[in-house]
Amino acid sequence: MSEAKHYYQDNALFLDGVNLNDVANQHDTPCYVYSRSAIEEAWTEYDHAFGSAPHLVCYAVKANSNIAILNLMAKLGSGFDIVSLGELERVLAAKGDPAKVIFSGVGKKEVEIKRALEIGIKCINIESEQELYRVKDAAADMGVKAPISLRVNPNVDAKTHPYISTGLKENKFGIDIDEALRIYIDASKMDSIEVTGVDCHIGSQLTDDSPYFDAIDKLIILMDKLKDNGINLHHIDIGGGLGICYDDETPPAKGEYVKRLVAALAEQGLEIIVEPGRSIVGNAGYFLTTVEFLKSNEEKNFAIVDGAMNDLLRPSLYSAWQRIIPLKDNSQAETKVYDIVGPVCETGDFLGKERELAIEPGDILAVCSAGAYGFSMSSNYNSRPKVAEIMVDNGTSHQIRQRESITEMFAAEELLP
Ligand code: LLP
Repeated sequence: MSEAKHYYQDNALFLDGVNLNDVANQHDTPCYVYSRSAIEEAWTEYDHAFGSAPHLVCYAVKANSNIAILNLMAKLGSGFDIVSLGELERVLAAKGDPAKVIFSGVGKKEVEIKRALEIGIKCINIESEQELYRVKDAAADMGVKAPISLRVNPNVDAKTHPYISTGLKENKFGIDIDEALRIYIDASKMDSIEVTGVDCHIGSQLTDDSPYFDAIDKLIILMDKLKDNGINLHHIDIGGGLGICYDDETPPAKGEYVKRLVAALAEQGLEIIVEPGRSIVGNAGYFLTTVEFLKSNEEKNFAIVDGAMNDLLRPSLYSAWQRIIPLKDNSQAETKVYDIVGPVCETGDFLGKERELAIEPGDILAVCSAGAYGFSMSSNYNSRPKVAEIMVDNGTSHQIRQRESITEMFAAEELLP
């Protein structure tokens, strides 16, 4: 449903009725382009699948935090999963409802906790006993009660890339499930704490949903023990992490997954929260980059493009594979096998390896499935300004972020006196 929406027409690549060559001509490359309808459909698929079951879809802001995208979510009625003060302020700037915001992350500072309490956040997901005490003190200082859940580490293997697996004992995230009961009991006695839920997030890019249900089995056992101790929760938050198709992966459809979730939790009678990021924006986004040079030696053909690891880090950091297609429909032309590399001074600077393409200098390529963890992980490495972002919508396009200028890039820096 919400998978990629591009198509070739008149020898050009289109997205949501917009010729991507026009976008590149108008805004230059490199740049990111997102399809509004793909984002809306993906969010709605989650939301509708819950039917009448009490629920909240909290978009994981870290996947793509452009405020136009957050505003789109707010208009849909979405909640938000945030992990920093910066993300919180973005949500507020995008007119997100603070009462639908949940705050995850292992290292929340006092100033972040206080701001979250000040704006009336829905829930703070506590990731350690130390953090519980920090939240308790912050709320007591402010004379309020902090709504909290414990992020429990259920020790299940999400079977995903080790850098994005979070639910194992060896990971820094959450509270050991064997410790959770004791900490819940302590929390329930604190005047400035209101225990409202339980939370877990076991990893990202899961292509099989069985680890979620292993985690739920463990959470249900914990919740039964909590009930025995007079602690009745209001919600269960099962985190994000549902995978998308980059190549030939076959992750469960969002709607099917949600229906299984609702069934597995039916007897609990709680509000169900999910925190999807990638599966809402991932396949709605494309990274456009121009071929500058073609360069060959006995071993390799390189296509040197104007986009680089600082703009799109996933291939370099996780050896992630993302489809790369030309904006011209070159399917009839003779192909060669290229490594698609950027101008950054690192051997690890590549967007794709061994890709069969028919290209020449000046051609524009689209890196697919770039809507999640693309722009949001970009940096100024090699003093490369942040790129522009454009939203296409039913034949029209809107710039949602200007390309950073060179002077803006170092405006906050100062010469020594
Ligand atoms: N909730 C929490 C607490 C999280 O830590 C994350 C992602 C999510 C929700 C959303 O997960 P999603 O639905 O997007 O999988 N940079 C990596 C992914 C890191 C994910 C970090 N946490 C990548 O590019 O693959």
